[in-house]
Amino acid sequence: TKANIGVVGMAVMGSNLARNLAHHDYTVAVFNRTYARTQKLIAEHGNEGSFIPSEKIEDFVNSIATPRSIILMVKAGAPTDATIDELLPLLSPGDIIMDGGNSYFGDTIRREKAIAAKGFHFVGAGISGGETGALEGPSIMPGGSPESYKILGPMLETISAHYHGDPCCAWMGPNGAGHFVKMIHNGIEYSDMQVIGEAYELLRGVGLTNAECADVFAEWNKGDLDSYLIEITSIVLRQKDPRTGADLIDVIKDRAQMKGTGTWTVQTALELGVPTNGIAEAVFARAESSHDDLRAAARKYLAGPDGTVSVDDRTAFIEDVRKALWCSKVVSYAQGFDEIRTGGQEYDWNINVAEAAKIWRAGCIIRAKLLERIRQAYTDDPDLVSLMAASSVSAEMEANQSAWRRVVSKAAESGVPAPVFSATLAYYDMARAPRVNAALTQAMRDYFGSHTYERVDDHGHFHIEWTGDHSETRID
Ligand code: 6PG
Repeated sequence: TKANIGVVGMAVMGSNLARNLAHHDYTVAVFNRTYARTQKLIAEHGNEGSFIPSEKIEDFVNSIATPRSIILMVKAGAPTDATIDELLPLLSPGDIIMDGGNSYFGDTIRREKAIAAKGFHFVGAGISGGETGALEGPSIMPGGSPESYKILGPMLETISAHYHGDPCCAWMGPNGAGHFVKMIHNGIEYSDMQVIGEAYELLRGVGLTNAECADVFAEWNKGDLDSYLIEITSIVLRQKDPRTGADLIDVIKDRAQMKGTGTWTVQTALELGVPTNGIAEAVFARAESSHDDLRAAARKYLAGPDGTVSVDDRTAFIEDVRKALWCSKVVSYAQGFDEIRTGGQEYDWNINVAEAAKIWRAGCIIRAKLLERIRQAYTDDPDLVSLMAASSVSAEMEANQSAWRRVVSKAAESGVPAPVFSATLAYYDMARAPRVNAALTQAMRDYFGSHTYERVDDHGHFHIEWTGDHSETRID
């Protein structure tokens, strides 16, 4: 018998995905550049289902039923291109290559165009959920031709996570749409993680031990903040260092790494003109944490409070932090969804925003109780300008905003860096302000460069002779 599907790349994500497929009764062809890895999978997990291992890529391709579905789980960038180049001469018309890595959506657009021109399908699919997700059910965000989704979709939906019976996999749109949505998922992941870190630092600031912080996060996880990242935070904070017995968190270097998806989210947002300052601050916070020279010099020369947070009522302050965290989280998601909506229009993908929220409710790293509310909000109004404005969210934002302000003030006063808490609050205030300081920017631009301004009481563009006779000219 021939395989229903093939997987290339037997690192942990690829082998776990292959096992997941096999657990669902698919016969899975498996291939890895170094055959030993394939052999290892078969030796350790071969009895879990039906696998067809091949040492040569030709045999691998021939072992799959046509039209073939082949999932690539290799490193993003050059290794993905190299694998595609090896596969292409071996394919038959109508075969599908799916890239399940964290590829840049621009690469996916390019690859899809080139591969479609050769008569094959190329699907760029974001897969979230880490190693466990790949094995037990990830959230899958595929983009490509609708025809390819007819073939691949049922298999992907079967192996994906499910939320109350609904698969966490849906077609996001043509070519780069899937990887675009996954990119934004990761951008939100960055800001979610950063703001949790800011909350943690404030809790430490008022004197809570790591174990007490863990209890607070565990408690928060029972309410509106219920999410995977809050859940693992409480677990992480309880972990002891096997070497020293200290809290592991205190032994881990405070330098955050990143692999690019957060940066792409912000770069793309800048190109699209979508304000995503919460996500941007999260990316910059990782960068600043790893800027050793800057931090060493600043520690030496820059004065300020030491991060101790003094409050009259600790319990009340902790509750304020919870509310602030909820508000900042909503703004981060609002910014991410704004980017999905705008990108969807800009690239002609026609992305169904509610569907993206729907498939993030389980399986992925940013899965959270909030996502069901987001799905509902975009289902009720697909043209929703901002999540913040959804009636299900805005009332709670209003109720929580004074706590949010107290937290941002307290952080500033105590010297606790809280870039995402403060940036998202600034975004909220800027969005709701009747008038913002942009008029002064316009006036200065017109002053030094005749860049013109618009008037509140007339149409058109105007310029004034600032240093001359102060006469105003209508430009158009
Ligand atoms: C997921 C994650 C995953 C990502 C890691 C690391 O959805 O399963 O987003 O795809 O690779 O979170 O990302 P950074 O190394 O950039 O933090």
